[in-house]
Amino acid sequence: MCGIVGYIGKKDVRNLLLEGLKRLEYRGYDSSGLVVFSPTGFNVIKRIGRVAKLVEATSKNSAKGTLGISHTRWATHGGVTESNTHPHVSSDGKIAMVHNGVIENYVEMKKFLEIKGFSFSSETDSEALSNLIAYHYAKEKEDGEDTSRFFTAVRKALSHVEGTYGIAVTCVDYPDELIGARKGSPLILGVGKGEYILASDESAIITHTSNVVYLDDNEMVSMSRDGFRVVSAADEGIDPVINTIDWNIEDSEKGKFEHYMLKEIFEQPAALENAMRGRFSDDGSTAIFGGLNLTPRELRQIDRLLFTSCGTAWHSCLVAEYLIERYARIPVEVEYASELRYRNAPLDKNTLVFVVTQSGETIDTLGALREAQRRGYRTLAITNGVGSTIAREADGGIYQHAGPEVGVASTKAFTSQLLIVAMLALYLGRLRDMSYTDGAEMVKALRSVPNLVRETLKQDQHIKAIAAKYAGYADFLFLGRQAMFPIALEGALKLKEISYIHAEGYPAAEMKHGPIALICEECPSVFIATGGEIFQKVLSNIQEVKARKGKVILIHSKSCEVPDGLVDDTIIIPDAADSVMPILATVPLQLLSYYIAVERGCDVDKPRNLAKSVTVE
Ligand code: F6R
Repeated sequence: MCGIVGYIGKKDVRNLLLEGLKRLEYRGYDSSGLVVFSPTGFNVIKRIGRVAKLVEATSKNSAKGTLGISHTRWATHGGVTESNTHPHVSSDGKIAMVHNGVIENYVEMKKFLEIKGFSFSSETDSEALSNLIAYHYAKEKEDGEDTSRFFTAVRKALSHVEGTYGIAVTCVDYPDELIGARKGSPLILGVGKGEYILASDESAIITHTSNVVYLDDNEMVSMSRDGFRVVSAADEGIDPVINTIDWNIEDSEKGKFEHYMLKEIFEQPAALENAMRGRFSDDGSTAIFGGLNLTPRELRQIDRLLFTSCGTAWHSCLVAEYLIERYARIPVEVEYASELRYRNAPLDKNTLVFVVTQSGETIDTLGALREAQRRGYRTLAITNGVGSTIAREADGGIYQHAGPEVGVASTKAFTSQLLIVAMLALYLGRLRDMSYTDGAEMVKALRSVPNLVRETLKQDQHIKAIAAKYAGYADFLFLGRQAMFPIALEGALKLKEISYIHAEGYPAAEMKHGPIALICEECPSVFIATGGEIFQKVLSNIQEVKARKGKVILIHSKSCEVPDGLVDDTIIIPDAADSVMPILATVPLQLLSYYIAVERGCDVDKPRNLAKSVTVE
């Protein structure tokens, strides 16, 4: 949420910042701005709307420099206006700052600063921080300090902040220094040769260097063209660990696809292969995970699992509940992270907590993780965010290796999570009651998934035609039972977020207890029924909809027998084991929502009001 790029080095900073902002635009796209530190001082350009507007405005400006900061905004405090757009320059003109996060005590700060003579031109919380840094900067001067005055001023200002921040700051008197700091909002340092890039995530860094330092909470970094130093809030030097980004720029390009979302849907077979690579035992009867940091004996002591996360990743947790309870016979509870973190949930001492998160940066998921750790629980993360805050703070976990997901609507990260929770069900099952033969059969089923997804993707044009038929409706129901219930929730969420159509997911049988009142010719239902003993029952639910003139799209597996003329449209997925059905059933739902959104002319990769990584509460 909000993207930051800062640079100090030898290159023309303008183009570099704009290129970085374009890559970070999926984090927020209400407005964007930058500061180029030119020989004449700060050169500020801001525009409302997409980064393209800023690019256009910047092309008319001749300011040049090799130090600068920039920001693409997802509005929290204050509307989408040019004055609320970052960077915020302090009212004395000394400090320019971009900020991601929320300054909770900004009202008090503002009152204090107004008394001290600072003025405000925006409604943002962030401007209070830039003025507070300027206040401390002026005060340091009075106190007679010099070389580290700018750095000290930032550190002192941050000590008064309640809330979260990832910031990049420059000072008009320090043309050779760029400062960054983080608490609760991600910030990464790219380490080049004589140049440093500060960014909210790796995608703005990867074209310049693959060497990165993941800053931890309460750390500050000061960069010059000759080097950098990282210090703690207590001003103690920290030995930075330089990591290598494990993907390359082509992975984050759109290639031949019109949208990232479509590209990522089609990348799913590869993402699934990556999630499994090297993760089955030599005898092919169980999964192996290198990073759980728990021995089989310790895992045997666990008698309850708690899965927590947000949004689409929360749907993965619900599927985990069905699969792990069924195959491993361990009770699983699922909680929204935003609720869990403030709820005083009584947890058994032998509970193991799993957080599931594509980005590894979602603030509520991070909050739930920290709360669980505070209470002494062991926490594991399933995440695609290598080096992310959650990956670093959890006691262990499983990386998804799905590659960068740029489309705001999660697709490949979701199915890769579904595969990992199925592998986890297998692993935990084999530690308990699952036989060698059943384990081997499940491994075979899991290994077949990438090809089955490839087969499902061949329905692309058929689904596009169905989408064209249904794109004009204003309400949809998504209905499924057992493990297809969370998939129905995911189908509804996907449609809502990218096409702005109202959609609800429900357990198919639960429909009779209320939502059936919505059924009419104008409200189509998407049923997901993949066979098994409840298939006939779902057919009865479909009959109930048809009796009320509701249109029905049915996603079913090949061998299911559907009475002729019962439904309006069908999408057939391959037959497969129950453990992998949630993955196969998801793919047509992704395509359906994608094509409906395209048909309606929506901006699929950057849906209204959304941002990819939700780093504010
Ligand atoms: C929906 C979507 C969101 C995320 C949610 C959690 O398509 O992407 O609902 O799933 O914001 O994000 P992560 O997984 O990064 O924690």
